Amino acid sequence: MSMNAGSPHTRPLPGDAALTRPSLAAMLRVNHAGEYGAKRIYAGQIAVLRDHPLRPELEHMAAQEQVHLDAFNRLLPEHRVRPTALLPLWHVAGFALGAGTALLGPKAAMACTVAVESVITEHYDRQIAQPDIVGPELQQTLQQFRDEEMEHHDTGLAHAAEEAPLYPLLSGAIKTACRAAIWISARI
Ligand SMILES: [Fe+2]
Ligand SMILES: [Fe+2]
Repeated sequence: MSMNAGSPHTRPLPGDAALTRPSLAAMLRVNHAGEYGAKRIYAGQIAVLRDHPLRPELEHMAAQEQVHLDAFNRLLPEHRVRPTALLPLWHVAGFALGAGTALLGPKAAMACTVAVESVITEHYDRQIAQPDIVGPELQQTLQQFRDEEMEHHDTGLAHAAEEAPLYPLLSGAIKTACRAAIWISARI
């Protein structure tokens, strides 16, 4: 059987069928990447703060990130969206960010949580405001996740995040890194 490799054809390929509008695909991809990164950040924090009284809080937040990640692990194939090619990078960078800030101390770990969760909350808010793209079901899921990210943010504040050394600098750097990660994960 000839492959006719060079011949033109008009049949849609599975990955680019009109089933998924590009913007929804980008949203799902970046959400998956973000939840993957969040899980790795908490894993890094827990590795360093395993004997710290904050551990149950960290475990609770990590468990919720796993639920969020599981949802996008289901949604990606459902919408024929491939994950970002940068997952191996977020695997390492997320853990390094979590462990690195935890090594600076529990308040710095919480400052990291506040910064990351504030960016994720804004990010989900923008998607929730576009029901024509996400649809009612995903919108509801995103609202639930957004509320949980806001709880994580508030947990960080409740545990003296703002008393971390060089808080404005640390917070600003982490927010910038998260926004860059979001930008690139939607595209690659
Ligand atoms: Fe999450
Ligand atoms: Fe979170």
